[in-house]
Amino acid sequence: MWGTSISLFLLFSPLQVIASEQAQQPFDFGEMSAPNYSLPPLPYAYDALEPYISAQIMELHHGKHHQTYITNLNAALKTQTEAVHTSDITTQVSLQQGIRFNAGGHINHSLFWQNLSPASSPDAKTSAAPKLVQQIKATWGDEDKFREAFKASLLGIQGSGWGWLIRVQVGQESRLAIVTTKDQDPVVGKGEVPIFGVDMWEHAYYLQYLNGKAAYVENIWNVINWKTAEERFVGTQADAFKILKASM
Ligand SMILES: [Fe+2]
Repeated sequence: MWGTSISLFLLFSPLQVIASEQAQQPFDFGEMSAPNYSLPPLPYAYDALEPYISAQIMELHHGKHHQTYITNLNAALKTQTEAVHTSDITTQVSLQQGIRFNAGGHINHSLFWQNLSPASSPDAKTSAAPKLVQQIKATWGDEDKFREAFKASLLGIQGSGWGWLIRVQVGQESRLAIVTTKDQDPVVGKGEVPIFGVDMWEHAYYLQYLNGKAAYVENIWNVINWKTAEERFVGTQADAFKILKASM
């Protein structure tokens, strides 16, 4: 009985009524703005990957395609920020797919530009990645077998997507794996570090290679940046993604 009285007092306490009214007041978010992402500059000239990737492709791919993902991402994040402020949950949910697609496009392309290099650079030689190559040999037997496996995965993608060499943590062990992703899905899983990726959307090769997808995949090896690959292999996921910091 005594316990019941205490419970009733607590239920109808004036203090609690005031607290309840306060809790229903809209929270003042103050001046909050959505993050604003910008196009990272290419670490080389548009024609630097010739003859393997044409300057025309690079200019359109970087300046138009990548920029469009960023423009759409920033617009969606701005709308999302407004929807959070107004507790508009249906708008927030409706934005999720577009944010995933356009953020994925920004993440993938930002990593891709960095994991390419002019063929004449020492960075484009596997000797720039001694630790990674050692692990590739331990995993696939030799470099040629790895390249064949990677090529088969890339050419097996149906529609648009990406192929990646990743480092993945399995328990205490760090392993290499080849993965493919659909559309613009990025490799952002826990314990996964993207080492290098190849864009298998038609916009990445069609102007130069037409339907010769296999030739594009064959030639991409001439411009893989093994120095960047080595840095990602020995670094953390945060290291690989540091280029993605947005301005607020
Ligand atoms: Fe692309």
